[in-house]
Amino acid sequence: MAKRIGVLTAGGDAPGLNAAIRGLGKAAVGRHGMELIGFRGGVRGLAEDDWAPLDHASLSGILTAGGTILGTSRDKVHKMVVDGEPRDMIPTIAETVERNKLDCVVLLGGGGTAKNALRLHEAGIPVMHLPKTIDKDIAHTDNSFGFATALEIATEAVDRLHSTAHSHHRVIIAEIMGHKAGWLALGAGIAGGADVILLPELPYQLDSIAETIEQRKARGTNFSVIAVAEGARDVHATAELEAAESLIKSASSPEAKAIAKENFARIQDQHRENPFRLAREVEAATGLESRVTILGYVQRGGTPNAADRLLGSVIGSAAADLIDSGESGIMVAARGEGAAPVPLADVAGNLSLVPKDHPWIRTARDVGTGLGD
Ligand code: F6P
Repeated sequence: MAKRIGVLTAGGDAPGLNAAIRGLGKAAVGRHGMELIGFRGGVRGLAEDDWAPLDHASLSGILTAGGTILGTSRDKVHKMVVDGEPRDMIPTIAETVERNKLDCVVLLGGGGTAKNALRLHEAGIPVMHLPKTIDKDIAHTDNSFGFATALEIATEAVDRLHSTAHSHHRVIIAEIMGHKAGWLALGAGIAGGADVILLPELPYQLDSIAETIEQRKARGTNFSVIAVAEGARDVHATAELEAAESLIKSASSPEAKAIAKENFARIQDQHRENPFRLAREVEAATGLESRVTILGYVQRGGTPNAADRLLGSVIGSAAADLIDSGESGIMVAARGEGAAPVPLADVAGNLSLVPKDHPWIRTARDVGTGLGD
């Protein structure tokens, strides 16, 4: 009997999601004769049994579109807010899967989605995860669709910011997304020729940043562009956050854990102003007028580039083959030019951060970029 599968997109939107839905759908329906349905609004669509069939017509013309045709959310399957209260929706989701006679649910998303997928897998629901994120922070995959496009956008932004920095003799701080990882800021910083790059993986010191800017001034260059990852913090803030995080891990009761989590969130919230504080500090230390540009959602928007269309298509169609051969409980990782299955248990909860000895870090130093450390 023909297999019947469901697909959904969860977490932040990213360029290449529609290419992956199309790759999965065309291979599943066209080559394997499966039936495909698309759940709306992330895992909430699964809980609410909210879906539409996906056929050749609905999979057509979406390759180049940004965002996701299915909509998305950041809901968690084990504590979804329903009527204002967090509820474990895993049993309800199991009923949806049963009622629709699904052989597999394919979840396209990042780290949070991998955790959702693992929870469903552990509850006996057949699932598969496809790695999507502009942050490139998913463990055990060479890449994730979304990153290549975001890298191009952020690089172009760093390029363009040079005009104002140069013309007005200013320091411009560009905040680049990436969550807890510095891949996007590091890649765009190197490719865009940033003078300083600040990453979560290398806590920075103001003195070191000021020194790089002063050295440039001494050579007659009265401007600088700083690419700062949204998760980058100075050494003091990093120590404060690490201490707050370890209190969560060592909490002896659920109540103590909840208080520790609240405290951590409060400290994190205070650090949201980080680029603006840094601009004031850099201005005071160097005497150069300093400004902030937050690239924000521009980095996730618009048409996916060729690399993300290609990666989404490759991973999507590989997923259809893996479902056909009866696989589940896996992520379809990008491996070389193809794809490979990795157990979800190895992926969920693990982040891929920039190793301190990564070639990109060495390259940045070699081309004279300050890393603030
Ligand atoms: O994971 C993608 C990402 O864009 C991160 O870089 C960023 O930290 C986060 O999503 C922003 O989340 P939201 O869409 O909830 O504002």
